[in-house]
Amino acid sequence: MKAVSRPWYAASLEWVDARFPLTKMWDEHLAKYYAPKNFNFWYYFGSLALLVLVIQIGTGIWLTMNYKPDAERAFESVEYIMRDVEWGWFIRYMHSTGASAFFVVIYLHMFRGMIYGSYKTPRELIWLIGMLIYLTLMGEAFFGYLLPWGQMSFWGAKVIVSLFGAIPVIGEWLSTLVRGDFGISDVTLNRFFALHVVAMPLILCALVVVHILALHEVGSNNPDGVEIKKKKGPDGVPLDGIPFHPYYTVKDIVGVAGFFIVYFGIIFFAPEVGGYFIEHNNFIPADPFKTPSHIAPVWYFTPYYSVLRATTSEFMWVVAIGTVLLVLLYWKEFKGAWRLVVPIAALALVGGYFTIDAKFWGVVLMGLSVLIFCALPWLDRSQVKSIRYRGPLTRIALAVFVVSFLVLGYLGTKTPTVALTRAAQVCTVLYFAYFLLMPIYSRIDTTKPVPERVTH
Ligand code: HEM
Repeated sequence: MKAVSRPWYAASLEWVDARFPLTKMWDEHLAKYYAPKNFNFWYYFGSLALLVLVIQIGTGIWLTMNYKPDAERAFESVEYIMRDVEWGWFIRYMHSTGASAFFVVIYLHMFRGMIYGSYKTPRELIWLIGMLIYLTLMGEAFFGYLLPWGQMSFWGAKVIVSLFGAIPVIGEWLSTLVRGDFGISDVTLNRFFALHVVAMPLILCALVVVHILALHEVGSNNPDGVEIKKKKGPDGVPLDGIPFHPYYTVKDIVGVAGFFIVYFGIIFFAPEVGGYFIEHNNFIPADPFKTPSHIAPVWYFTPYYSVLRATTSEFMWVVAIGTVLLVLLYWKEFKGAWRLVVPIAALALVGGYFTIDAKFWGVVLMGLSVLIFCALPWLDRSQVKSIRYRGPLTRIALAVFVVSFLVLGYLGTKTPTVALTRAAQVCTVLYFAYFLLMPIYSRIDTTKPVPERVTH
């Protein structure tokens, strides 16, 4: 009998499948991963984040081929890449623009999670892993910014690392540990280089894999906040689900095209974006003896930097009043021993506000302003997920949050004046109010009936 001949690739795949679950993984995560059929514009940013991660790693590898992590030669090696290495300018601008693009994409990706309540049950862990990614990304960007060894690299790192010094008792020891020296030096540059090119990218990639595995375990949310797994057909496939591949792999190409138009537009026509993506001072080699008149971090850190600067000793009165009001507001929630523990802890805190330097509380508030996103799944008490079916209170709160975040970001790029510091203080209060009052307004807000099936 004549053997049926199969094409070589089918035979090869069978050979691989017998040894590694390639087809199984393809089906599980792409061809038979059923995603809700109502994904909209906001759902482009997950795949775009993945794309930017790949771009950053690819261009980073090429930059490393010519970059010298040496305080004597780092600045000139970047100039060498820009002027003499073939296509070096292009690779470098792809990387520097990619850093800012990464944060734009991630902020929009997180915002999508906030409007559609994607952090709510059963996706809390996806959100928390996302937060770990975000923190790692901040570390990655911070370490990378020192590498060109320009004035802003040097003085920015100096300011941020010295913040650790505000922590009582261990502060100075911690700053020295991070720097590896008593000042920002060649030793610091070497360790930041190691962290930027090896440690952080490895952690980022591992976290992204875990993020997507967690997502595929529970399934994607969608703009209606309807759980599509609750309505399955006789074949076990969600009635409102469509295979991720080819439907969304193709749709995501549209997002990629839109992204590339903006991304390459910036690279070719305005790679510094008026000093927002690459600060003007960073075209001057680092000089430990010449402090620039204006030191500010890159735009993606400025909302938090504003919170730090807003925390003056005067502002501690506002923080103290806020602490007392919060205890009174949530008094009914505390039961048993908590009725004793909470007021004592609050009193101790208020005492600390006026005995420990405000600089320390500035660092604490800055840290909290980032970490507080982790608490969203537990702060949000609404019965519905998506903003589409929520009432006016949630919408107003979200709008106030967005405006205060943007204003804080803008103020962080400016030299502080009395008026600007006041504005930053008002925005800091509004920023925290969005989170800390959420258990109340999200519960009492009106809701609209959520449909059984997703809408188009
Ligand atoms: C390198 C960074 C990141 C990458 C590559 C990434 C990738 C993805 C991808 C591919 C998806 C599925 C597609 C989509 O829903 O858009 C997703 C979903 C999700 N991500 Fe991320 N992500 C990153 C960072 C973050 C961060 C920082 C957060 C939040 C703190 C976050 C929260 C979420 C949530 C809640 C979902 C589920 C959304 C839903 O089902 O509606 N991600 N992510």
